[in-house]
Amino acid sequence: MSTKTLINGTKIPTIGLGTWRITENVEQTIDTALQAGYEHIDTAVAYGNEEAIGRAIKASNKNRKDIFLTTKIWNTDRGYEKVLKSFHESLERLQTDYVDLLLLHWPEKTSTENWEAINASSWKALEELYLSGKVKAIGVSNFMVVHLNSLLKKCSIKPMVNQIEFHPGYLQEEVVTFCKEHSIEVEAWSPIGSGRLLQHPLLKDLAQKYHISVAQLCIQFALQNGLIVLPKSTNPTNIKNNLHLPKFIIDDHDMALIKNMEETGWSGLDPDKVDF
Ligand code: A2P
Repeated sequence: MSTKTLINGTKIPTIGLGTWRITENVEQTIDTALQAGYEHIDTAVAYGNEEAIGRAIKASNKNRKDIFLTTKIWNTDRGYEKVLKSFHESLERLQTDYVDLLLLHWPEKTSTENWEAINASSWKALEELYLSGKVKAIGVSNFMVVHLNSLLKKCSIKPMVNQIEFHPGYLQEEVVTFCKEHSIEVEAWSPIGSGRLLQHPLLKDLAQKYHISVAQLCIQFALQNGLIVLPKSTNPTNIKNNLHLPKFIIDDHDMALIKNMEETGWSGLDPDKVDF
């Protein structure tokens, strides 16, 4: 399994199973993924599937230490005390005594009074959980440069990861570059544009050229950009194919073609404008 090393030395498998909107047959999907060789599962309180994921991991023949497990603090639990409480509830649902990576799911919006203090207060709880060893690495999700800049000024421990929407047609270059400059690893959610890219003509042509699927092309594109990638699927064949990519490299010319695609497939979720 290919891994990246976070700034604190924690190893993270470069392909993980995204589980947003997987709320039915969760245990079966996780079992399929674990048996297919996934060692990295990404969940969140907001996905409503922590309990089922916990059951699936327990029921599997895998050692807990061989699975990289991420969860995220939801927006209604911002602030030091609430973050700590939420985290301990996650541990119970996940039936574990630690998580590998804990993220703040969305930044407090810059239009909110005291947004910087709110993000910093949530972050303080993550730092404490990290220092206590209950969390092996800490990070954020959907943080743009403005949110990161603010947090970096106030934190004692820097975020190790930022998980953002990233796929052909939505590259978020400004925040990706900023993260690279600050040794923050970037994780791609919705790497296949939540399925919206599957029929894109250029991607279909390139997939045909490399004898792979559009989904595999999108996953490889994220990997070649240096990201950790979290494709989501409930289909057993797709789950396997998304992890076991044939050995191939998208050449520079084709990487440029994908990079220069028109904006497409965006979820429409602007972290500073969402209403949740
Ligand atoms: P399915 O669950 O039927 O596989 P994203 O990871 O960008 O959120 O995209 C998830 C969507 O892409 C899901 O609808 C999923 O459907 C689909 N998908 C995931 N992997 C593949 C694949 N290898 N081939 C085709 N569709 C895929």
